[in-house]
Amino acid sequence: MVGRLQDKIVLITGGASGIGLATARAALREGAKVVITDRNVKGGEAAIAELGDGAEFLAQDVTREERWVEVIGHIVEKYGRLDGLVNNAGCGSLHNIEDETLEGWRFVHAVNVESTFLGCKYAIKAMKQTGGGSIVNVSSVAGLSGAADLAAYCSAKGAVRLLTKSVAMWCAQQKYEIRCNSIHPSFLYTPMVQQMIDIAPDPEKMRRRLERTAPLGRMGKPEDAANMVLFLLSDESPFVTEAEFAVDGGTTAQ
Ligand code: NAI
Repeated sequence: MVGRLQDKIVLITGGASGIGLATARAALREGAKVVITDRNVKGGEAAIAELGDGAEFLAQDVTREERWVEVIGHIVEKYGRLDGLVNNAGCGSLHNIEDETLEGWRFVHAVNVESTFLGCKYAIKAMKQTGGGSIVNVSSVAGLSGAADLAAYCSAKGAVRLLTKSVAMWCAQQKYEIRCNSIHPSFLYTPMVQQMIDIAPDPEKMRRRLERTAPLGRMGKPEDAANMVLFLLSDESPFVTEAEFAVDGGTTAQ
């Protein structure tokens, strides 16, 4: 059976956990060869043990430019091409504008935005040599509307949203056949969200609050985002670029 991503070479950052791992599973199921990267080496190795044939793990801190050059260089050398990049690695920071520190602000922007800038920059370099590709940037609902206690995160994910559009326009103008889109999840039950629940003064209250955020009245699953990414990486979306896709149970419609 031919899969929806048959023989495509796909790089997924933050692939040891949550949305990245669910996307790796889905891409493999659809016939892709998948390289996952993560700064969590133990988690990455455990993920590879589960994913099996067709998947490879590379340690990567996505904030480091020289590591991006090495990771993409390795992929091009080993597989001959890069067809898909999912800039998924990210981190949150539960602080409002008054209590966020400059250090925290810079860290959140490095992990969420600078990484996406670097990923797009070096992926384009590889993809344009082999006829194009698809880049999916994982933003957030917090990149579409404000949240009082997520000052740095809203800023960073908002930047990811507009960086995506600039990248898409540039690639279209240059006729690279590289599409670039963003997805905007909220709240999908992953280790990151579990951590938000755990550190809350009243975890049960926090869990109920997160569940009530979406009109659907529950949290989504990492697979919900993975299915959207699958569509955007596949040849089912050749005319889709510069677009933003909420995976949020209706949250942004309110
Ligand atoms: P997660 O915490 O389960 O996975 C994130 C992965 O990124 C982890 O494996 C972590 O080790 C890795 N990572 C973090 N910093 C890194 C770095 N500097 N270099 C390399 N890897 C790094 O979180 P989840 O929920 O799967 O999040 C994935 C993406 O989705 C993030 O960008 C997050 O901001 C975004 N997101 C998630 C939502 C949700 O409801 N789960 C909602 C909105 C956005």
